[in-house]
Amino acid sequence: MSNFHALAIDEIRAETIDSASLRFAVPEALRADFAFTPGQHLTLRATIDGADVRRSYSICSALDDGELRIAIRRVAGGRFSNWALDTLKPGDRIDVMPPAGSFGPPPAPERACRYVAFAAGSGITPVLSIVASVLAREPRAEVTLVYGNRRRETTMFHAALEDLRRRHQPRMTLLHVLSGDADGMADMAGRIDRPRLDALLAAAVDARRVDHFLLCGPGTMVETLREGLLAHGVAAAAIRAELFTTAPADTQSAPAAAATGPVGRVVVLRDGARRDFVARLDGGNLVDAAEAAGIELPYSCKGGVCATCRCKVTAGRVEMLQNFALSDDEVAAGFILACQSHPITTEVTIDFDAT
Ligand code: FES
Repeated sequence: MSNFHALAIDEIRAETIDSASLRFAVPEALRADFAFTPGQHLTLRATIDGADVRRSYSICSALDDGELRIAIRRVAGGRFSNWALDTLKPGDRIDVMPPAGSFGPPPAPERACRYVAFAAGSGITPVLSIVASVLAREPRAEVTLVYGNRRRETTMFHAALEDLRRRHQPRMTLLHVLSGDADGMADMAGRIDRPRLDALLAAAVDARRVDHFLLCGPGTMVETLREGLLAHGVAAAAIRAELFTTAPADTQSAPAAAATGPVGRVVVLRDGARRDFVARLDGGNLVDAAEAAGIELPYSCKGGVCATCRCKVTAGRVEMLQNFALSDDEVAAGFILACQSHPITTEVTIDFDAT
């Protein structure tokens, strides 16, 4: 049931002193599988020092770029990022799972939507794809992007964003927030925090006229902004958030423990196939339980962040311990993160084909 495809890397481009973007050559036969919507990510898999290591990276290319590209930033001690940036070269092949995720708002070419995005660090990658696609495909859309970094040299896609701003003035407003702004180049110095949000909403953005707020960065920033926006009267449905964190990704789960307590039967539907396995009712998670039964479910972070393991419960019930990836609407519709869930009824069906 593995959904990985070995794709060739046909270009590696340095983006900053600590990041690079990788472009994949997608063969004709896989074009449909790798069609993406802005805001989605790819899960990459590699064997590093004998271990199966997976990471999810957001697609940074826009719909009209005609390419599939992700960006990787070096993380201190990060197993995958350091291996990828030090080892991979054009022509290499790497296992890649088709695009997943639902961070991007639905396209609205006929409307005059207003978008306000807050991105910090490598959180810009999905936001760049969304913003560039919106500006190209929605002729009356207006975008405000507030982008936080330490310094100019570590600001990913600086030139691409300036080019977007130039080409789409006055529909695009770009504000750089730099916390270590030695040369005074920033539009604002400091961090993206609650006072900055309050100031922006007081002076430059009428929150009531914004259709979509996009938040992408570390958990503290995302939560602070979400709370702030709700306090300013923004509807929860107008806020789309994606967490960018490295913590769970560098920890691979231990193999599933043997099922010694009460167990349930889990039916999994994926790619039109039906299989089943046994999982504990008192803990563990569905990804590990399936793996112990020889069934591979899609996963990457195993931390409730990336949504690679997103599926829908169509029968029975599960308990989901953490969720940093699914919206309230998705949860209400029955979607779960398999890496964070265990059954609480003896019969459960999870459907990976549900949309
Ligand atoms: S594998 Fe990332 S949320 Fe489950």
